[in-house]
Amino acid sequence: MENKKILVSGVKPTGRPHIGNYFGAIKQFVDLQNGYDSFIFVAEYHALTSERLQKNPSILKSNTIDLVKDYIAVGIDPLKTVLYKQSDIPETTELAWIFNCLITVPYLQRAHAYKDAKAKNKNLNVGTFDYPVLMAADILIMDADIVPVGKDQKQHLEITRDIADKFNMLYGKTFTLPEVKILKEVEIVKGTDGQKMSKSYGNTIPLFGSKDEIARAVMGIVTDSSGKYPKNVYEIHKILKPKKEIDLLYKNNVGNYKVLKEALIEDLDSMISPMREKRSKITDEEVKTILEKGGRRARERSKSKIEEVRKKIGVFF
Ligand code: ADP
Ligand code: TRP
Repeated sequence: MENKKILVSGVKPTGRPHIGNYFGAIKQFVDLQNGYDSFIFVAEYHALTSERLQKNPSILKSNTIDLVKDYIAVGIDPLKTVLYKQSDIPETTELAWIFNCLITVPYLQRAHAYKDAKAKNKNLNVGTFDYPVLMAADILIMDADIVPVGKDQKQHLEITRDIADKFNMLYGKTFTLPEVKILKEVEIVKGTDGQKMSKSYGNTIPLFGSKDEIARAVMGIVTDSSGKYPKNVYEIHKILKPKKEIDLLYKNNVGNYKVLKEALIEDLDSMISPMREKRSKITDEEVKTILEKGGRRARERSKSKIEEVRKKIGVFF
């Protein structure tokens, strides 16, 4: 494992993942785990910005276990990738505080996610505002070289680099400036309504859905009434198979939305069913053991980094 570059990423345990999360982010974790020292975590404290989860600690807990099962079922190998909970690395929240002191309120006010949340929510919590700083701490505490994510996280990576740069300027080279890794073809997977697929828009195809759930979601894909080319069906379909094959299928079935949707259901189900099967065999106990071990491994790294930081800022004698 020595000498490989460091990969870090996480997902919030806010509910069932969808194929947008899979193709945009989680599949990259699988594909890259042999080439990097990978650290993949469950971002519980980012999820805690949600009022719904604040009111339901037991859901936060079960979502956390579920997400680790998802990670393993898609092919993340706990022997190759360190899987851990954000809350097991207290050095992250400590580092986030230090970063809070280095950046300004107007700087964070420019973040898109904050602006969107502000427009929707009058009772905006401080955690939502400070979200990018905690994310920077997740990444920098591990000294990440690359961070695979979907395009919606791009600005958060820019903020992370700015924070690392600011710290390095003040205290001398301490943090690596991480590179974002976004896959162009799947940077924004479209949902059943043609907008970005997102847990919060009700337009998802669940990654571990039963065949019935997949069928319901696909049948609900919005198609235009011109009767020729179902763009929203095609957009999802072309992620699953080579473009040539899909183009031919759509050419041969012009106007036949039903056949095309049925083909998409079959293709989704053949991709999903082996993962669904694998997932059903993973127990809560296994997950807990994996997280304990992963937490210990990740913490070895975070502890030595925070020690370096403490010395540099003058709180360590
Ligand atoms: P959601 O928007 O559904 O709540 P999350 O914020 O939990 O998704 O995102 C988890 C990961 O999946 C992030 O890296 C994010 O960029 C990626 N992701 C989310 N939605 C999409 C999408 N539609 N296309 C590509 N990547 C996505
Ligand atoms: N903000 C990310 C999301 O909404 C989750 C996340 C938290 C993350 N910390 C991270 C992703 C660190 C990559 C690296 O999906």
